[in-house]
Amino acid sequence: MPTPTPHISAAPGDFAEAILLPGDPLRARYIAENHLEGAREVNAVRNMLGFTGSYKGLAVSVMGTGMGVPSTSIYAHELVAEYGVKILVRVGSCGAISAEAKLRDVILAVGACTDSRVNRWRYDGHDFAAVADFQLLRAAARVAEAQGVSVHAGLVHTSDLFYSSEPEPFATMQKMGVLAVEMETAGLYGLAAEHGVRALAVLTVSDQLVAGEVMSSDDRQTSFDAMVRLALEALVLDAG
Ligand code: HPA
Repeated sequence: MPTPTPHISAAPGDFAEAILLPGDPLRARYIAENHLEGAREVNAVRNMLGFTGSYKGLAVSVMGTGMGVPSTSIYAHELVAEYGVKILVRVGSCGAISAEAKLRDVILAVGACTDSRVNRWRYDGHDFAAVADFQLLRAAARVAEAQGVSVHAGLVHTSDLFYSSEPEPFATMQKMGVLAVEMETAGLYGLAAEHGVRALAVLTVSDQLVAGEVMSSDDRQTSFDAMVRLALEALVLDAG
């Protein structure tokens, strides 16, 4: 498949080796304008905005993925297979099901359980252990500690349904030590394994599903900025 791809119109070489992946393309633009230096737009197909700039001298791209495993997988696949991206860091939100994880806390997804079948497709029908890249995870944990960010490292559950008709099996997830639910990470980790690249999901708790609390929009912005700083500093430490 020659570049540009069906969903990305950037030229070869337009993306850096490391990319931040928020779900919302307007958040990609926000990161480019507020956290990167010299960022230029490299994709706008379907308004899925992508940018490349730098952070503390390190070339970094940022692009939206949309919501859910299928949308995220399309973009991540094309970035890796056609544009040579090697490090994918999802910066997103999650709903905490562990009482320990409070609103605004950061969760580093060590691994992702899922009700999606995508990793079984990739793994001959068996259950693949979708895990973060250890070096990236360690870098993010070190940065969080240095920044004094309240961080939890553990499992998330990647769900295909945001609105479920069944009662969600939160009790089982809690019993098995799953910290939070979200909708992309298992797909991203499986894809990274398939292509031999590295991935990490850094998530802020936007909903506390046990306590029934949601973040205010001001809090969303502040904690989003803190998460992006953490992710960018982790990339710098990882590259060092
Ligand atoms: N469910 C799934 N994904 C989410 C949630 C949730 O409650 N909150 C943020 N992302």
